[in-house]
Amino acid sequence: KQLVGLVGWRGMVGSVLMDRMQAEGDFELIEPVFFSTSNAGGKAPAMARTHTQLKDANDVAELAKCDIIITCQGGDYTKEVFPPLRASGWQGHWIDAASALRMEGDAVIVLDPVNDGLIKDKLAAGGKNWIGGNCTNSILLMGLAGLFKADVVEWVSSMTYQAASGGGANHMRELLKGMGVIHGAVADELATPASAILDIDRKVAQTIRDDVPTEYFGAPLAGGLIPWIDSQLDNGQSKEEWKGQAEVNKILGNDKPIPVDGLCVRIGAMRCHSLALTLKLKRDLPLAEIESLIQGGNPWVKFVANERALTVKELTPASITGGLEVGVGRVRKLNMGPEYVSAFVIGDQLLWGAAEPLRRMLRILLQ
Ligand code: HSE
Repeated sequence: KQLVGLVGWRGMVGSVLMDRMQAEGDFELIEPVFFSTSNAGGKAPAMARTHTQLKDANDVAELAKCDIIITCQGGDYTKEVFPPLRASGWQGHWIDAASALRMEGDAVIVLDPVNDGLIKDKLAAGGKNWIGGNCTNSILLMGLAGLFKADVVEWVSSMTYQAASGGGANHMRELLKGMGVIHGAVADELATPASAILDIDRKVAQTIRDDVPTEYFGAPLAGGLIPWIDSQLDNGQSKEEWKGQAEVNKILGNDKPIPVDGLCVRIGAMRCHSLALTLKLKRDLPLAEIESLIQGGNPWVKFVANERALTVKELTPASITGGLEVGVGRVRKLNMGPEYVSAFVIGDQLLWGAAEPLRRMLRILLQ
């Protein structure tokens, strides 16, 4: 059995990865070695059979004993440990959730239901660096893989509604604390049906401005939204917006890039990222054909007919969260012309957006 090093398995993405690996029986196929940045020598989780003690995640010599390393430890760790590990002559496979190596020439952004061909070509050519994509882009591609595979997309405008989990565990807690603070400020009035809604609203607005915690998001998210994600680039895009075109085209292996652009917005959902998309198709396809291409994209597409009752039930975070299905709906032709189509795509940010492509890459390496 191959020796598989696991780093950052205790964090949020890492914990989701552990759960999925257990659910799919991945640990039965490997010899896991658990690493820690803070607790080397401590007891490894029960899945460890021979390496029952935690190893030091900064010990390059220990890491180099692994055939495969999967890390969810974050970009700073990758930047610190990956260069000396490779410099030491290590020839193993590196599977990484962080973005640090994503755009490197020798790295493949892994999303095998969409780019298994690219992954297998790179593997045959000796590729060893397998990096998980940005969550928003992985969800976009999982939802609309059928249209991209059929090569009918001329460009995509992608307006996002991104959940708190994209920031991390502390961000999710901050969102919930903010919700609680707002409710607390008007709980008495809410319990009194006769109280005036505009008085409640005034108090809520004041509370959002003054009392909702902003330590992690930098602005109040509960009861609002934040129309900027990640750092600011010189061209006016946010880094998150820049990733759209760069990563989608890298995942698809396009020589001629498809333009992908739009605004990325943080909203008060817990862990479902959504995208409201405008697509310009290369030609005027019948709506039924567009729908069937989307439905045939991969087995995880949950296609929701463009009807009100179905949409509000099935195409929401409440319905999608915690599962592997990627919801796609609101598909219709737009007033701009017969090649212009809308779609709403929604997926669990921690599953297809982070953990799932990593464990599936592990499975590909074990084949
Ligand atoms: N950058 C994403 C977000 C998460 O902030 O929602 C990571 O892909």
